[in-house]
Amino acid sequence: MFLKNLTDGYELSNGVKIPCIGFGTWQTPDGDVARESVKMAIAAGYRHIDTAAAYGNETSVGQGILESGIDRESLFVTSKLPNHSHGYDKTRAAFLKTLEDLKTDYVDLYLIHWPNPVAFRDCWEQANAESWKAIEEFYQAGQIRAIGVSNFMERHLEALDKTARVQPMVNQITLSPGLTQDALVRFCRERGIILEAYSPLGTGRVLSNPDMRAIAEKYGRSVAQICVRWSLQMGFLPLPKSTHESRIIENANVFDFELSVDDVQRIASLDCGGFVRDPDTVNL
Ligand code: A2P
Repeated sequence: MFLKNLTDGYELSNGVKIPCIGFGTWQTPDGDVARESVKMAIAAGYRHIDTAAAYGNETSVGQGILESGIDRESLFVTSKLPNHSHGYDKTRAAFLKTLEDLKTDYVDLYLIHWPNPVAFRDCWEQANAESWKAIEEFYQAGQIRAIGVSNFMERHLEALDKTARVQPMVNQITLSPGLTQDALVRFCRERGIILEAYSPLGTGRVLSNPDMRAIAEKYGRSVAQICVRWSLQMGFLPLPKSTHESRIIENANVFDFELSVDDVQRIASLDCGGFVRDPDTVNL
């Protein structure tokens, strides 16, 4: 099988290796829950942790990383630029705050979280260009190992391209059974951009889908495992989130079975509900 375990991964366009499943922390409450779930994930073998300033849990995520006892260099840590901090100076300040909160002197991947926040809606292109310049400088200085974006559509990537000196290496978007954003995925792949899949279980919505349940039964796996495995076989990098130890372990236990090509296609075309939030109108 193509990926063998949690430390196996993809190679980003700058040669940096990224572990193939990231531990998601969106909607994980700050404090003990975030700290303990990060520790449980690292104990379970996850080596890639995804957080964001906007999740409000970076301090606890950082504490969990410290208390895990695993060397910082063995982990891949992602964070994201918050929506109220676009523009050159604000981006610099936000990134330095993230380093402080995470108690680290570098992050492995830093993303612009949303391309068009309400606060910058009348000047989003300019704001992204300035943020990107600041992010490129941190990258050149070695404080960020790889740089990218999140929730960017084709038009936002094209706009960024006008002034970028370093191309984004990752686009983190919502991807789950039935929600495959094919045109955007193709667009990113043509540019060597790796697709990270947030909400790979559809924030839990997919778990009760009867077709997914039948497929899970056929493979003798949980629906969550089918979702994560499907995401990998689609070539995405899933970021499943859980705060429960047994689920954290379960979601990573996907390397000893393979979905058939037919089932991968079928899962891609299921209607599991859900939708993509339009970055240009979303109230964030
Ligand atoms: P919890 O954190 O209480 O375990 P997504 O990764 O798509 O955002 O989905 C996360 C949601 O799915 C959370 O509500 C999480 O709940 C739940 N979840 C995560 N893993 C599993 C699992 N293996 N079985 C059932 N629910 C899960």
